[in-house]
Amino acid sequence: MKIISSIQELRDALSIYRKEGKTIGLVPTMGALHSGHASLIDASVSKTDVTVVSVFVNPIQFGKNEDLDKYPRCLDKDAELAEAHGASFIFAPSAQEMYPDGEPETFVRNKPLENQYCGAYRPGHFRGVLTVVAKLFLITLPDFAFFGEKDYQQVFLIEQMVKTLNFPVQIVRCPIIREESGLALSSRNAYLSEEERQNALSIYKGLLAAKAAFAKGERSETKLRNLVIQSILLQRGTVQYVEIVSAKTLEKQVGHLHDEKLVVLVASFFGKTRLIDNMELT
Ligand code: PAF
Repeated sequence: MKIISSIQELRDALSIYRKEGKTIGLVPTMGALHSGHASLIDASVSKTDVTVVSVFVNPIQFGKNEDLDKYPRCLDKDAELAEAHGASFIFAPSAQEMYPDGEPETFVRNKPLENQYCGAYRPGHFRGVLTVVAKLFLITLPDFAFFGEKDYQQVFLIEQMVKTLNFPVQIVRCPIIREESGLALSSRNAYLSEEERQNALSIYKGLLAAKAAFAKGERSETKLRNLVIQSILLQRGTVQYVEIVSAKTLEKQVGHLHDEKLVVLVASFFGKTRLIDNMELT
């Protein structure tokens, strides 16, 4: 496995494989790789000939008071994990390499959805994500790109971007990977104290309670949302939002729920750590 930090060098290396008719898989990450990322790498390695794992803590998707500076950076460990799972390249550019003129003036945006759910609390976040993912697609020209469903709104927006802008890449959604306890894996779990980690299990428990109630016939959006909210509050979490949305459109569902594919989206804080999670109801 090779670690590359230059855009041109990566393009040159990949063009050789492309000429040989090999397929390329891209796993975009911000590093601090865990088993969730490993599952994306495994999916890419089994579906494509050459897997590129990008490791780039993208400054333009962080707000002013967010954790850009303290976001865990551990390229050596990331490289070990990526190599053990069969990746061919790590692409780890500097911010200067990706944004030589500083904050860009051209962005990819999704007007209706970028300010909803996570976007309502993280202004500019999704425009930063879409812009860097578009750049990574244009740099790598992958046949497939792999994203985890933990970031449900993110993968939905990326699929929309690919469709709208005709990127010649197929997005592969990979399921959430959880600890045995049920906590969804996230690089930000590293910020949790032991007590916060225990309390954060209430997110998963609340989601399971909502799913079970839905299976038993509960169709009140308020009651289902409240099961999740109460579970989190009881364990001293702070709820940022809990919404039930259509999996097809990401539109918020209110009142009496209809039988379509629905997902509960959650963002909450335990201590200072913001955690997101989601679960399909059907
Ligand atoms: O999900 C992430 O880690 C990031 O948002 C992504 C997709 C790598 C873009 O920086």
